Amino acid sequence: MRNNIILIGFMGAGKSCVGRILAEMLNYTHIDIDSVIEKNNKMTISDIFEKEGEDFFRKEEYEVIHGLNKDKLNVISCGGGSVLNRDNVNYLHSIGMIIYLKASSVSIMSRLMNCSDRPLLARGDENLLIRIDKLMHEREQLYDEACDFSINTDDLNPEEVAFNIKKMLKY
Ligand code: S3P
Repeated sequence: MRNNIILIGFMGAGKSCVGRILAEMLNYTHIDIDSVIEKNNKMTISDIFEKEGEDFFRKEEYEVIHGLNKDKLNVISCGGGSVLNRDNVNYLHSIGMIIYLKASSVSIMSRLMNCSDRPLLARGDENLLIRIDKLMHEREQLYDEACDFSINTDDLNPEEVAFNIKKMLKY
C-alpha cells in the first residue's frame, strides 16, 4: 500500500506550509526534504548551492528521497526540482500518492518577491517574473506527468489547500 502523501510543485507553491498543515490534520508526520538536506549538511539551501553547487544539492536530494520509508504515514514536501530526476519520481510513486500544487507564475512571483532563499531564482539578470516563467515552462509538463492529482492553489490559502486535499483523498 502507498501510504505517504507527497507534495510537488514549483517554488512558492506552498508545499512546505500545506504539508505541515495537512500532516497535522491527518495526524501524519511531516517531512520537508529541503529541511532534511539542510539538517544533514548543517547549511542552508542557499549556502549549499553557493559552496557545493547544484549537482551536489541534487545528489543530496536524491539520497534523502530514496531513503524515505514506504510503510510510514508521512506527508512529504519535496523541493521544486525533485521531479527533474525520473528516478526520484519513480521512487516517490512507489511510496505514495503524488499531489501537484499548481500555481501561476504571477502568484509565485507575488509569494516570492521578498524572499532571498531561492538560489535558482537569484541567478541571471532577468526580472523575477521572466525567470519564473522560463523555469515554469521547462518544468510544468514534468509536474503534470509526475502527479496522481493536481490542485490549483492560486485563490486558496494553505489551510484551504490542505482541506481540499484531505477531501479529495477521502481521509
Ligand atoms: C528548488 C526548489 C527549492 C529548493 C532548491 C531548488 C528547485 O525548494 O529545493 O532551492 O529546483 O525548484 P522549494 O520548492 O521548496 O522552494
